[in-house]
Amino acid sequence: MSPRASPLLLRVLAGETTERPPVWFMRQAGRYLAEYRALRAKAPDFIAFCLNPEMAAEATLQPMRRFAFDASIVFADILLIPRALGQQVWFEAGEGPRLGELPSLGAMALAAPKAGEALAAVGETLGRVRAALEPERALIGFAGAPWTVATYMLDGQAREDRAAARRHAYEEPALVEGLLEVLVAATVDYLAMQARAGAQALQLFESWSEGLPEDLFGRLVVEPHRAIVEGLRERGVMLPVIGFPRGSSQYAERYADEVPVQGVGLDTAAPALVGERIQQAGKAIQGALDPLVLRAGGPALDDRIDELVAAWESGPWIFNLGHGILPDTPIEHVEQALRRIGAA
Ligand code: CP3
Repeated sequence: MSPRASPLLLRVLAGETTERPPVWFMRQAGRYLAEYRALRAKAPDFIAFCLNPEMAAEATLQPMRRFAFDASIVFADILLIPRALGQQVWFEAGEGPRLGELPSLGAMALAAPKAGEALAAVGETLGRVRAALEPERALIGFAGAPWTVATYMLDGQAREDRAAARRHAYEEPALVEGLLEVLVAATVDYLAMQARAGAQALQLFESWSEGLPEDLFGRLVVEPHRAIVEGLRERGVMLPVIGFPRGSSQYAERYADEVPVQGVGLDTAAPALVGERIQQAGKAIQGALDPLVLRAGGPALDDRIDELVAAWESGPWIFNLGHGILPDTPIEHVEQALRRIGAA
């Protein structure tokens, strides 16, 4: 394939500056879409929904039919990994995830190298989506990053202050270290399976990296992410990787320097200059529109998009939100954003 024929997203992740940034939105499949709500109503159990390739492929494709997104992200959840490691996971309606007792490190270590096999349904979803998607639109696979997944596994349920999970890192360092090691192994196997199944880029969601002191940012975020990318390369998986350490834009340049990813996700608080410096250092950036300004729409949305364009259009940039789309976002505002950026 000539470089010009390859999807915009992959060109940017190869370091190219494109005529306009490729666009996709985190959580682009979901409750802000009436067709998603209708599909979801047929599957009361959210985990079973994620593991049903026919339904998950449909959910993945819904936003692609409606909008001019340049990339699709497989419909799944970061909490499938704990399930593959033997921990019970369920969703309480209106309340979010709940997790059962943490299995022993020994039991999880035995399950980790088989995580891809345990989650083969996600591979089947990827295959179905790739077959249905136009060649110029890229397909992204993903996993939760080890620390973020560990916060759920250690605390069992959503806490008001997820960042407080870091107390475990001080009080039970051996447990946290062992758990991160297991999660690195499981994530490498799971992402390698997604690569074989048709993913063209991979994203690591580190949703809970806010509030970390510098030393913990190194131990809990930088080191596991580096181990995952290196583990993938050792297994011959050469796909570009986007790392998204949310809530830690003060460390984004350090992250870009120390983790061998091709793209760095920036959250809503990331200063324009931080993004520019990462671009100058040769990496692509992704982000960082505030989901709240997307929900607001109107001139506030246009103005903010114009600011981001002015700051980042001269380097490799993937236009995205700084966190997931909110369920009460009007469809028209997504269309407005796609027009303003030149994708529709
Ligand atoms: O469109 C896409 O982006 C792909 C699908 C996707 C989902 N979750 C589907 C989902 C992706 C990439 C995720 C990642 C995810 N899941 C993250 C990281 C990104 C982030 O938001 O920080 C996290 C922390 C989770 C864990 C999770 N899943 C929580 C805390 C919740 C409950 C809160 C909520 O938004 O309802 C979920 C459920 C979930 N995952 C939904 C969707 C569409 C809503 C469930 C429903 O339909 O009832």
